[in-house]
Amino acid sequence: MIEVNNGLFHLKNGALSCLLRVTRYGLLEQIHFGAPVETGDVDALACNPGLGWGSSLLLNEADSASCPEHISLAWSGNGRGDFRESPLEMDGSATDFCYVNHRILDAAPAMECGLPQSHGSCETLEITLEQKNARLYLYFSLYETALTRRAVLENLGSDPIELHKLMSFSMDLPGAYHMTTFNGGWAAEMNKTVTPVTRSRVVSESRTGASSNMTNPGFLLSEADANEDSGHVYGFNLVYSGNHYASAQLSHQGLTRVMQGISPANFCAVLQPGEKFETPEAVLSYSGEGFGGLSARMHKFVLDHIVSEYWKDRERPVLYNSWEGCMFDFDQKRLLGLAKQAKDLGCELFVLDDGWFGARNHDKAGLGDYNVNTKKLPQGLAGLSAKVQKLGLQFGLWFEPESVNEDSDLYRAHPDWALTDGFPTITGRHQLLLDLTRAEVRDYIVDNVSRILDTCGISYVKWDMNRHSVAVGKKAHDYILGLYDVLRRIFEPRPYLLLESCSSGGNRFDLGMLCYGPQVWASDNTDPISRLEIQGSLSYLYPQSTFGAHVSASPHAQTLRATPLTTRGNVAFFGCLGYELDLKHLAPIEVQEIKAQIELYKQHRRLFQFGAFRRLKNGWQVSLDGTTAAGVFHGLMNAAPGYEMLRLKGMEPEKRYHLRTRAQKIRVGQFAHLLKHVVPVNVNPEGGVIAAADKRIGLDDGVEGYHVTGSALNSGILLQPLFRGTGYDKNQRTQGDYGSNLYIIEEE
Ligand code: GLA
Repeated sequence: MIEVNNGLFHLKNGALSCLLRVTRYGLLEQIHFGAPVETGDVDALACNPGLGWGSSLLLNEADSASCPEHISLAWSGNGRGDFRESPLEMDGSATDFCYVNHRILDAAPAMECGLPQSHGSCETLEITLEQKNARLYLYFSLYETALTRRAVLENLGSDPIELHKLMSFSMDLPGAYHMTTFNGGWAAEMNKTVTPVTRSRVVSESRTGASSNMTNPGFLLSEADANEDSGHVYGFNLVYSGNHYASAQLSHQGLTRVMQGISPANFCAVLQPGEKFETPEAVLSYSGEGFGGLSARMHKFVLDHIVSEYWKDRERPVLYNSWEGCMFDFDQKRLLGLAKQAKDLGCELFVLDDGWFGARNHDKAGLGDYNVNTKKLPQGLAGLSAKVQKLGLQFGLWFEPESVNEDSDLYRAHPDWALTDGFPTITGRHQLLLDLTRAEVRDYIVDNVSRILDTCGISYVKWDMNRHSVAVGKKAHDYILGLYDVLRRIFEPRPYLLLESCSSGGNRFDLGMLCYGPQVWASDNTDPISRLEIQGSLSYLYPQSTFGAHVSASPHAQTLRATPLTTRGNVAFFGCLGYELDLKHLAPIEVQEIKAQIELYKQHRRLFQFGAFRRLKNGWQVSLDGTTAAGVFHGLMNAAPGYEMLRLKGMEPEKRYHLRTRAQKIRVGQFAHLLKHVVPVNVNPEGGVIAAADKRIGLDDGVEGYHVTGSALNSGILLQPLFRGTGYDKNQRTQGDYGSNLYIIEEE
């Protein structure tokens, strides 16, 4: 609810409080954001500058506490006494926006510029600030798990305004924090980076034209001693897919200023008299229960208010994707062979990835064209789709509509449709982007994609975008608005389509894209050990139903690391499961394992996709309706490892549970050199007999089961021993490097 009392605003929902106050100089003071507090706590929570600090500018000479620099603000100007970073820069001049009025609205006002925004019921506080030539509307929308903020600037004067920077929010938090950002590059997304925020500004920014794999828009601020389960943690994210900026800086007075919005790099929007500029919506949340508590709130917010109503709790099919197995090398026969195998394994959706159109036999040609390659697919997409569906599978298709190869019919016909910066063209993955700020380009994409969607029996779309942009500043923003227009026109009339967006993997993993499609392809890196970091980092801000997680071949194409198929499955279970490898060469024992994986996943699909996710010291946990699944993952194995504990979270102490391992096998080949010690025949460990046996025979691994109280599980149980070179036993966890186990824990 939002309480207003004599210039004091209290937005509170039981989970968090935001207290704002208009100062007697018209500034908007941020008294508090975080743990729930009472309105009456205001005096104790507010900054009290007392007799002030030296060398400060005073708004009122008679009031030594009237220096804007010394108080905690929810917005601030330029010059005028606050020399900290300002969320707004225009015309290269000082700014001084002061309170004029406010309104309480029973919903979030709709964006006028076409940016996506959160949905669902909320109360909104609109605070209007003004200065001589401009008005600023600040929106605070209160949901059960988060507060969202955005800003709108309106030109009230008779001259144009040059807007160089307008953040979605700015706020000051008393205290010092660590900033956690998620950085990386292609196939190496979401590296968790923790930086102490001190007097030097810490900045997290993307300038690639997309939200980018370099730094995700989502970030955290936490107390230095916060951990998974306790301590103050703030989470921030932006409903936006373009260039973004976030900063945090500690002031001399001990206030941390944090802000986020569109990157101001090269930004310049000219607002004619009467025109407005709207920022994307920022999401702000808080938990006093550590990183885990914050993640739970962010997950709920994303599912309830970002993902569409249709998909927010709808189970996702197990898919097979042709990319890593085939790349560009396929024809209808090969695809149908794979589809049949995928169906036999238990997959439910067959996705044809890149290579089905124009001259797309490699990545140097064809992008931009939509004519089906009839050499590969003589019966066209509709023919292939019908056959796939006849096998009992849904059909999904890859598109890369935002791009064009110079070697394409589209580029030959419309070279001017490519996005340019006025300098000689530079390519990325041999391609250019189309200029989505142009209406005819957007129409071309909408018409072609819609036509194929409506005529080819398509249930799933993978929407890819594989290069960084040459557009900078305002042009880059207009591109993103163009993209949203295209996505809205294609997908809003077809809400039942499962849209998984992708950008060379996770180069555009953000809340903006999640407004149009409920999933994002997290990374081209499907190595399960890399995925522990990628999916683990995503879990801070995004629920597991928002990312695709595929089992692929080993050794892995990006890391050359060999990992057990069991671990590849155990990691991919904690996302939307798919398979992306050539099925033709699977050994019988691998076929058996994949069938078992899919069967288990389907049995517990709702748990894996929508269960409450928790990070454990040595793995992950999901819980839903009395059932929990926990994965325990290992890196390189040491000799003679000691005991290992599984400590679950949130189990009901009084209840009794049955814990059992997912049955899994270890390959005989792993023991080839040891066999001579246990069987009387002397077989060549590298020979054909062992190779043949390895493909067919597996030994039970880590068979384990207990009837145990929730209290014991919360306290931590000791798992079966790991292999120590002292012999084989089916109960032992005989795994080697990168082994793992999955436990299912059910209420009795
Ligand atoms: C990108 C995607 C991959 C695949 C290829 C196809 O790299 O991230 O998953 O779709 O494009 O060219």
